[in-house]
Amino acid sequence: MVKMPPDVKDTLQKQKPVPIATASKDGMPNVVFVGLLKIVDDETLMIADNFFYKTARNLAENPKISILCYNGETKKSFQIKGDVTVSIAGENFEQMRKWVHGVNEKLPAKSCVMVKITEIYNAMWGPAAGKKVA
Ligand SMILES: Cc1cc2nc3c(=O)[nH]c(=O)nc-3n(C[C@H](O)[C@H](O)[C@H](O)COP(=O)(O)O)c2cc1C
Repeated sequence: MVKMPPDVKDTLQKQKPVPIATASKDGMPNVVFVGLLKIVDDETLMIADNFFYKTARNLAENPKISILCYNGETKKSFQIKGDVTVSIAGENFEQMRKWVHGVNEKLPAKSCVMVKITEIYNAMWGPAAGKKVA
């Protein structure tokens, strides 16, 4: 696992909505937007699954994720990769439901997607593009 440096956390926090990519086990990529992504700690993210369909199927067969963020003011962009654990009961799930229903009680809050960050890359254009950050 790796820790997000402050500029990565700041860029991700301000990214709305956040594009997240998954892939099926035979490699078909899929990207969706999520609004309900929060930073739990420096190496952990929580995502609320309200409407995932292909994303849920992909995570069940290939529990990996790639997340992208960009800030036009600071001119920083990062690609975050992680390992995913999906839950439909338990402590993380209950926390996710509380959070989501605090935003909108009508949301289904189907499952909780926890991301342990494994790699972070610079995704800004220029000479450092593609370089590993952590
Ligand atoms: C701005 C925006 C924010 C969204 N936020 C979420 C979210 O937080 N959670 C969620 O499950 N779906 C969210 N969606 C819906 C997904 O992007 C997508 O429609 C859903 O996962 C179905 O696509 P899939 O079959 O590729 O998974 C959002 C869509 C948009 C346009």
